[in-house]
Amino acid sequence: MEKTFVMVKPDGVKRGLTSAIMQRFESKGFRLCGAKLMQMSETLAKTHYEEHKERPFFGDLTKFITSGPVFAMVLEGEGVIDEARKMIGKTDPKEAAPGTIRGDYAILKSENIIHGSDSPESADREIALYFTKEELIEDRSSTRV
Ligand code: TYD
Ligand code: MG
Repeated sequence: MEKTFVMVKPDGVKRGLTSAIMQRFESKGFRLCGAKLMQMSETLAKTHYEEHKERPFFGDLTKFITSGPVFAMVLEGEGVIDEARKMIGKTDPKEAAPGTIRGDYAILKSENIIHGSDSPESADREIALYFTKEELIEDRSSTRV
């Protein structure tokens, strides 16, 4: 079953939005395979955002993402990668539609509450960066009531 990686950023955790955000994905019907509150290291931050290492915002981004605990999640369900990105909304919260997580909870592009994998390749890569196989409870679709 398709899986994606979603992470409430330090601003979201600090503002007490973790459970509200998790609720949205669970209510939609996606299943939680793994979740943890954690402090990202500088190395993990740089690896996670490797694709942006030449961009002018890279330094601020890695500083921000390590500025406090994040809440990492793996979600499972049909079409979850694209659907979670839709539910998250555009990168810049000013352009994110109301009803999306960024549209409802954020104002600044640099503090946009949440991360979500943008493709099957990045989902695989990011899940492996944050979780061991043992930490994930996989495909429960057949046992779900
Ligand atoms: P990006 O991968 O483009 O966005 P998304 O999180 O929607 O996949 O960028 C990664 C993060 O970098 C983004 O969530 C916030 C930050 N960022 C900035 O601070 N300024 C910018 O101009 C961009 C494009 C991103
Ligand atoms: Mg991205």
